[in-house]
Amino acid sequence: METRDDAGVYKLSDNLAIIQTVDFFTPIVDDPYMFGQIAVVNALSDVYAMGGKPLTAMNLVCFPIQSVDISVLKDILRGGIDKMIEAKVALVGGHSIDDTELKYGLSVTGTIHPKRLVTNSGARVRDKLILTKPLGTGIISTAVKAGVANKKTIAKVTKYMAKLNDQASELMQEVGVNACTDITGFGFLGHTVQLAKNSQVGINIDVTAIPFFPEAGEFAKQGLCPAGLHRNREFYSPSVRITPAVPAHIQDILYDPQTSGGLLISLSPGKAESLLDRLHQAGVEDAAIIGEVVREPSGVVTVR
Ligand code: CO
Ligand code: CO
Ligand code: CO
Repeated sequence: METRDDAGVYKLSDNLAIIQTVDFFTPIVDDPYMFGQIAVVNALSDVYAMGGKPLTAMNLVCFPIQSVDISVLKDILRGGIDKMIEAKVALVGGHSIDDTELKYGLSVTGTIHPKRLVTNSGARVRDKLILTKPLGTGIISTAVKAGVANKKTIAKVTKYMAKLNDQASELMQEVGVNACTDITGFGFLGHTVQLAKNSQVGINIDVTAIPFFPEAGEFAKQGLCPAGLHRNREFYSPSVRITPAVPAHIQDILYDPQTSGGLLISLSPGKAESLLDRLHQAGVEDAAIIGEVVREPSGVVTVR
């Protein structure tokens, strides 16, 4: 826990450690089946970010049994199970309670060789940074709640949020990387600042290389930003320097809390192109080299 990675790691023996993590939240899409899938992908992501293999999961369910039809819960759980099957994760139990607000998520246990553990504190000067999914899911979820996102946009973003980070994780382990984190609630800049601080390095971001949903840019221009975005900006902006030339709606996207976001991987410059090619071949087509690690200013992310 000391590096503020989102999962806890416990060493069982010299060649085996368990990774444990838990994540649950309120629906971010209307389709219960897809919400179930996204919740699983989001919960497994912290294991993948550490280079581990998730093995078992337990459901956490809060459900308003008086006001919502039970078929909704069945669809959520069915979405969850289908995604666990895809990820080869066994559902071994769970717990449910009656609650005024619907929430679903999972606790997950995975394994890793202790020497193969990837954390958010190992980035080295001259490393390149790869981001594997486009940004903007929080802004688009806000637009969905406001009823202004069209079906095509919702379907596209849902597909990304329901996409496992398993391949990106496996490929980064094959190539060998120095650090990784997944981009979730603290937004791209929040998690990047944590990577910089924990690794005691500076990070330069090339904003033109960042993959994002164009629709998120349009919604941000209309002010459809989630509350978490403003909190992220308040908390992390003292550690961020953004060139004024970066448009306001792009800055919003950089602070946007992500659900089931991609991995941010730090690896030596000689390996970056090779990992990028492999990611693209494996269907992680939006992966891009978006910045590099520098010595100074330590703990600061510079965006230009
Ligand atoms: Co988490
Ligand atoms: Co995480
Ligand atoms: Co129980």
